Amino acid sequence: MQKFINLSNYPIDQPSDKLNIVIDQIRNDLEKDGCAIIRGFLSKEGVSELIKETANVAHYAHHSSALTNAYFTADDPSLPKSHPKRQFFERSNAFIPADNFAKTGALRNIFDHEGFDEFIRACLNEPEDRFFRYADPLADAIVNVSSEGNGFPWHFDTNNYTVTLAIQNAMEGGEFEYAPMIRQKDENFTEVSKVLKGQSQMVKSIVLKPGDLQLFKGRYSLHRVAPLKGTIPRYVAILSYVEEENMVGSVERTKQLYGRVLPVHYERAGKRADNFID
Ligand SMILES: [Fe+2]
Repeated sequence: MQKFINLSNYPIDQPSDKLNIVIDQIRNDLEKDGCAIIRGFLSKEGVSELIKETANVAHYAHHSSALTNAYFTADDPSLPKSHPKRQFFERSNAFIPADNFAKTGALRNIFDHEGFDEFIRACLNEPEDRFFRYADPLADAIVNVSSEGNGFPWHFDTNNYTVTLAIQNAMEGGEFEYAPMIRQKDENFTEVSKVLKGQSQMVKSIVLKPGDLQLFKGRYSLHRVAPLKGTIPRYVAILSYVEEENMVGSVERTKQLYGRVLPVHYERAGKRADNFID
């Protein structure tokens, strides 16, 4: 049995006082500013196996790019040109769809590990009846591949939280930058504008190391991945949970993100729209 998760620090497969202390700390971090980093969640072996596995399937990544503002809204010419809603940046993505990762491989071994879902749910403090794995066979556990020139510019998330696992860093750049709780009661366009211009004192920068697990609530905190440099691609796994059982992506969105769809996407088309990757 390979040990990909650092179970001695994070004994997620067995309820214990030790685990409760970990969960409490993560909840505190999330409460404070919507971001928690679980350092060294993977073992050394877990990191190296996951890098190997990802590199082997990286050529299946589907690339897409679009010009987006921080709100994922269309341009509004009634606003002044300097308004944050009118600042558009190139967003380019490459996602390796979930079905490229074998059931017996490292990524599934980690995601499907006993206690993993419950650990994430407890950390996020989500109610049991509002917390399910994304049922999309292309999208439940994917890896984002990005290199110099690609990336995630400043944005607010449209989903409530994201769960990501750092696998490999680029040679330079790729820091996670965020302005904690920059919008709360109102949009705070003045400060958002400063962030977009690189002039805000609010921005915090975090370096994620391979094997770190990150929980982030990005609805109120503007965030981005700092531009990448060098020839080594950055790999980050995105693990998705949703508030309803049996949900999959819409046909249109799935095509856009993964370049293809499966019968299940058509079967459930129209059931509901989703935007959980953002
Ligand atoms: Fe985001």
